[in-house]
Amino acid sequence: MTDLIEALRTPAADAGTGAVSIGMEVARVDGRDKVTGQARYAAEHPARDLLYGVVVNATIPRGRIEAIHAGAALAMDGVVEVITHLNRPRIRSFDIFYKDMTAPGGSPFRPLYDDRVAYSGQPVALVVAESFEAAREAARLVEVVYAPEPYATSLLEQRANAHKPSRLKAGYAPPPEPKGHADQVWERAAVRIEAEYYSGVEHHNPLELFASTVIRGADGHLTIYDKTQSSQNSRWYVSHVFGLSKDKVTVRNPYVGGAFGSGLRPQYQLPLAVMAALKLERSVRVVLTRQQMFTFGHRPETLQRLRLAADPDGTLSAIIHEAIAETSRMEDYVEVVVNWSGELYACEHIRLGYNLVDLDHASPMDMRAPGAAHGVHALEVAMDELSYALKMDPLALRLKNYAEIDPTHGLPYSTKQLRECYLQGARRFGWDQRPPEPGAMREGRELIGWGMATGIWDAMQMFARASAVLHADGQLVVSSAASDIGTGTYTAMAIIAAAAMGLPLEQVRFQLGDSTLPVAPIEGGSSHVATVGSAVQGVCEKLQKTLFKLARKVDGSPLAKARFADVEFADSRIRLSARPDVGVALTEVMAASGEQRLEEKYMMLPNMLKQMKYQRATHSAVFCEVRVDPEFGTVRVTRVVSAVAAGRIINARTARSQIIGGVVWGIGQALHEETFCDHRLGRFMNHNLAEYHVSVNADIHDIDVIFVEEDDRIVSRIGAKGVGEIGLVGVSAAVCNAIYHATGRRVRSTPMTPDKVM
Ligand code: MOS
Repeated sequence: MTDLIEALRTPAADAGTGAVSIGMEVARVDGRDKVTGQARYAAEHPARDLLYGVVVNATIPRGRIEAIHAGAALAMDGVVEVITHLNRPRIRSFDIFYKDMTAPGGSPFRPLYDDRVAYSGQPVALVVAESFEAAREAARLVEVVYAPEPYATSLLEQRANAHKPSRLKAGYAPPPEPKGHADQVWERAAVRIEAEYYSGVEHHNPLELFASTVIRGADGHLTIYDKTQSSQNSRWYVSHVFGLSKDKVTVRNPYVGGAFGSGLRPQYQLPLAVMAALKLERSVRVVLTRQQMFTFGHRPETLQRLRLAADPDGTLSAIIHEAIAETSRMEDYVEVVVNWSGELYACEHIRLGYNLVDLDHASPMDMRAPGAAHGVHALEVAMDELSYALKMDPLALRLKNYAEIDPTHGLPYSTKQLRECYLQGARRFGWDQRPPEPGAMREGRELIGWGMATGIWDAMQMFARASAVLHADGQLVVSSAASDIGTGTYTAMAIIAAAAMGLPLEQVRFQLGDSTLPVAPIEGGSSHVATVGSAVQGVCEKLQKTLFKLARKVDGSPLAKARFADVEFADSRIRLSARPDVGVALTEVMAASGEQRLEEKYMMLPNMLKQMKYQRATHSAVFCEVRVDPEFGTVRVTRVVSAVAAGRIINARTARSQIIGGVVWGIGQALHEETFCDHRLGRFMNHNLAEYHVSVNADIHDIDVIFVEEDDRIVSRIGAKGVGEIGLVGVSAAVCNAIYHATGRRVRSTPMTPDKVM
């Protein structure tokens, strides 16, 4: 079959999979390739005469490089070059010409640009050798002499220097203007709470290490396998930074072993590998170590203050939510932390604030549900605190203040089935059996607690193109430069195309992960299905119309007099909806047309004018049971029910996996994940999986996912909103609230480690 980019190894469903429909449970089409090791990740693509680069990282948080002694490294067998700011190839200014597609405001970090050190762990040299082992050994021998300067790495010490974000990011929504008189109302309120919440730094730990393999063709063309959430973003970055025209660089990411924000921006191994390939005119691979993955950004340390006020009947009268978060000195990394507090509950008086503190760290980075992970945590813990102050059931308090229109903008919701999430989730969990008093449930030595929280995330749609080629043998190839970071994009897109064309799944291939394919956005923000899926649906609808016209012209066609509205695509045929036995096979249509292939292209532009009239969000209700050992302070999350309203679900199986993954990560946020900075060194210390704890199998018990019925044709023509981040939002709050219900102890900082729970 032509039209497939050979190197991509585009996966197809197993033979015999057959017909599929939207919302079915479908096994991943790439599952077999993944479990048999056929799927190749960025560091696994072979190349002739490959060089290996190993990064040397700065050991001071701020200052200048006075000298780099590379003699000993260069003297080693197999070492080819040590690249530093003194001998790197020319790179363009990042500021004027270039911003990667998700860059915050300010000046992006430029690896090996000059003698400045802006954070501990910053790359300062790349050792390139004929073998990985030689490069690694030589990297140890590079001696860097620094002139250190004073630095600041503590948010808590610097909180007095908090400032408004000034270097603004395109598309970032700052907190809205205050509504009403929240402060006065809070002062006079009958029932009120005030609390401060702290969230520690978290680092990304996807299974796949960050890596780039740059394969240099004889003509100098660079084919780059990169770990990224967008091949086109990395291609754009390399082209701009190195002044290489579009046709000189191709970036591919056919498989990505997790990323969830860490691959939104190009990471520094990419420009370093390209520098070496250009300078040495060879193919080069650079793979970061697990330890080095703690040197390029993190979920920012955040401090929040919540004040809530209510009437005695539980009616919320004021919400005041203020946050300060860290950023680097280079960029104003911004997240939407507090805005959610103006979107979730009906309230007349709302004031929200968000400020930044500049620290000598790498710029913080998006991490699954950036902003909401912290902001909704604080809001939902505060709501729980308020429910006890009111002596009201926490779920009843949410239902009492259920927002029928968006409280901030006064807009209707495109769809909002949150009430159903609350009701179905509560029923499945058995919430009505919950004793109101903390500490009322015990089994053996463990205290048992039940907590709940609400989740919310944006339902976004971006712009995308897709192409579709139907071959004479009835095989369909649909393409777009989308990504599949483990989320199931290959499968979801194949389902949409197969369902639209009435073809068995194994006859449809969806091709992604190559920068030369039709334009697609970054896979981020849980927007890929609503975006790329709509482009796939659009291109298939065009193909349907073309095929229908051709079908009418087939000799003796039973559809000669039919109208398009009368037919359906099913069973590999075009047939009359009312008379399924009357129709023409797609292969017959192709044969009659005399064409070997029929191609359509489609450009999907979101209907922004319509979308702007609605508040668009996904919602969830999370219910959770914890068992706490009061003597050791250990917490087990034994049961979670997550009820999600995220529009139409395309693949019930992979969507459920997304929610389970989010819940697992939420448990990590609640109980395990934190990176500690030693402020005497300005460096993150527990930079490995032994000391940076993530949830493991033993931490995870029952997770039950409910998808509440929802169909949103405002967010996307396929009715989908997107599932990803929503699985994480609210989980840590539900855990916190359950710990309180078990123990009567309110833990106001995450992670809620045994020392805080005890
Ligand atoms: Mo999204 S922050 O790319 O999971």
